Amino acid sequence: MKIGIIGTGTIASALVQGFCSLQQPGCRLEFALSPRNREKAAALAEAFPGQVMVCSSNQQVVDVSEWVFLTVIPRMADDILAPLHFRPEQKILTIMSDHPIHRVREWTGDVAKIVRMVPLPFAAMHIGPIAIFPKDEETERLFAPLGKVISLEKEEALSVISAQTAVMSAFYHLIHDTTEWGAEHGLSKEASLDYMTAFYEALSHKAALAPDGDVKALAYEMTPGGLNEMTLRFLLEKDAFRLWRDALDKVWVRLGGAANKSNP
Ligand SMILES: NC(=O)c1ccc[n+]([C@@H]2O[C@H](COP(=O)([O-])OP(=O)(O)OC[C@H]3O[C@@H](n4cnc5c(N)ncnc54)[C@H](OP(=O)(O)O)[C@@H]3O)[C@@H](O)[C@H]2O)c1
Repeated sequence: MKIGIIGTGTIASALVQGFCSLQQPGCRLEFALSPRNREKAAALAEAFPGQVMVCSSNQQVVDVSEWVFLTVIPRMADDILAPLHFRPEQKILTIMSDHPIHRVREWTGDVAKIVRMVPLPFAAMHIGPIAIFPKDEETERLFAPLGKVISLEKEEALSVISAQTAVMSAFYHLIHDTTEWGAEHGLSKEASLDYMTAFYEALSHKAALAPDGDVKALAYEMTPGGLNEMTLRFLLEKDAFRLWRDALDKVWVRLGGAANKSNP
């Protein structure tokens, strides 16, 4: 199957790398990339010869592809997409934040289906969440090897997910601070990082398996009077977790908050 990509940037590169590095006998995907960004498109074509071609125009991308991924910056979408002619049998995957499906349809006209999604660059490593709306089995099957596909029931839930992803940098900072603290107290930097990254990975794994999804119960699964209780109590007294919610509230307002509806 040939997949066209309009906007060869960070997320498009991650997806192409993720798909092209899969070893799946019998399932060969080919990618037709838009000429911009020139360096990124050329690097992908060089890394995956025979699987990735760089087109001479955005319209050529659409013309040679069965599915088309839209991965341009939202504010540029009108200029880039409005002049293009899509075919009625094409399936469109829009990865642009901000633009709801009804808006994307104004650019594509009548096409077979438009699916909106929030993938993340981890897809290049075949891990991490991939949120989609509406549920679409073909899209789920296509993306399942790149991570955990989560189909949402409402389009506006994609905006909530976009807000949640905004804790990524703060989480890396937490890993950095706890790792540095270990190094400042006698661990080698390497051992500290190895230990803490495996530790956070295990915590996340266990949280995903929490009975009835009750992650909070895990927080209280601790030795009475022990070190975890001491840390949790200190942070609760400082209202530290409130700050994380406040940060998400601010992101949510910036994303349009309650006004962030899928339909006009
Ligand atoms: N990055 C992520 O982790 C992520 C995750 C989920 C969703 N998204 C969404 O995905 C979209 C792209 O994000 P990104 O981070 O990948 O941005 P990006 O790296 O800036 O990619 C956008 C690409 O569009 C290209 N472009 C500019 N004008 C064009 C034109 N006329 N025709 C075709 N391509 C053109 C740019 O090329 P030049 O460099 O030459 O200008 C750039 O390579 C955004 O809507 C973003 O919200 C991103």
